[in-house]
Amino acid sequence: MLPYGHQSISDADIAAVCEVLRSDFLTSGPRVEEFERHFAALVGAKHAVAVNSATSALHLAMCAADIGPDDRVITSPNTFVASANCAAFVGATPDFCDIDPVSYNLDPAALKKSWQSDTKAIVAVDYAGQPCDMSAIAQVARERGAVVIEDACHGVGGGLMHGGRVWKLGGHPWADMTVFSFHPVKTMTTGEGGMLVTDNDLWAEQVRCLRSHGIVRDAAQFESSDSGPLTSEKGPWYYEMHSLGYNYRMTDIQCGLGLAQLNRLEAFIARRREIVARYNGAFERLPWLTTPGLRHPANRDHISWHLYTVQMDFRTIGKTRTEVMAQLRQMGVGSQVLYIPVHVQPWYRKTYGYVLGKCPVAEDFYERALSLPLYPALSDSDADRVIDAVCSLND
Ligand SMILES: Cc1ncc(COP(=O)(O)O)c(C=O)c1O
Repeated sequence: MLPYGHQSISDADIAAVCEVLRSDFLTSGPRVEEFERHFAALVGAKHAVAVNSATSALHLAMCAADIGPDDRVITSPNTFVASANCAAFVGATPDFCDIDPVSYNLDPAALKKSWQSDTKAIVAVDYAGQPCDMSAIAQVARERGAVVIEDACHGVGGGLMHGGRVWKLGGHPWADMTVFSFHPVKTMTTGEGGMLVTDNDLWAEQVRCLRSHGIVRDAAQFESSDSGPLTSEKGPWYYEMHSLGYNYRMTDIQCGLGLAQLNRLEAFIARRREIVARYNGAFERLPWLTTPGLRHPANRDHISWHLYTVQMDFRTIGKTRTEVMAQLRQMGVGSQVLYIPVHVQPWYRKTYGYVLGKCPVAEDFYERALSLPLYPALSDSDADRVIDAVCSLND
């Protein structure tokens, strides 16, 4: 069975992990700093902070931006729940605006319309790896004093064209913080893991501190200089907790794998692009199927595709999506539905009173979406098996 996504682990990746296992540090050691440095250089950001998941990175982005109970955070409904949950973690109200029918990403015009006076942050999700219209989103947000967080979990290593040059996700000026995921189905993996990148020194320092319990070990930052005899001796053991933080640390084992995977990232992205081109070439002639659209065709050669999601007219082929998925499975082809619009999830309906019809484009997209296998180890003959299976759906 060809799954819809799969990690690619080489002997070099395994050797990199084993090397860490034989070393002195399994966590909070040199691999973490090395992985962060390489990742920051790759995307062109000043700071990269490694954490144990992108969910943690999104949570800490909210904390750094000082988002709280009186604030609203707008994101795309076409995403994994974590992009919205992060706002709820800090007591803010997660809200949703509709998506663009071509890119399936947050629509800047809809964002403008759904703006409310308490909106303090935007989480712009690069669905499937295609970048959002970041400059337009940043313009709407910055004119109104809101922070832009880019959820680039799907787009590790990807970029966008703007002003005649290529900008890497994480390195362009239209996001204040950018978050990446290294979950196994993503473009590269650390098992579980995430990265927050930013050019903002203060936010980077806050995120570093919060990922490890809000503890400070640098003597220059100690506060309790006059807190009495108990803490007057500040020996090598001494630390201070300055804020209520978490254990969101990434281990050296994960970072060892991350460093080895970084060496293969360009090859992963190139192979994913080849498969996308092969699928597009075969599917464009099917009148009952829509291939992934590009909102900005100039981005074509810079996208790091995580998902290959088509829209199918199930009525035309006379089958339900469940029947289509079962038929594909019988032919050895796995598929997945990404995403159920977050605002219709029971918890969101109950907690915030969101109703069906709030984001009609995202709801319509969901009804017709199906993601097909896409991962670097998928061979040309595997891809042709997927193509044959899909084309036979209307026989
Ligand atoms: C768009 C998006 N945001 C956030 C996340 C959360 O990532 P993680 O699993 O690393 O916490 C995911 C993971 O599936 C995702 O797809």
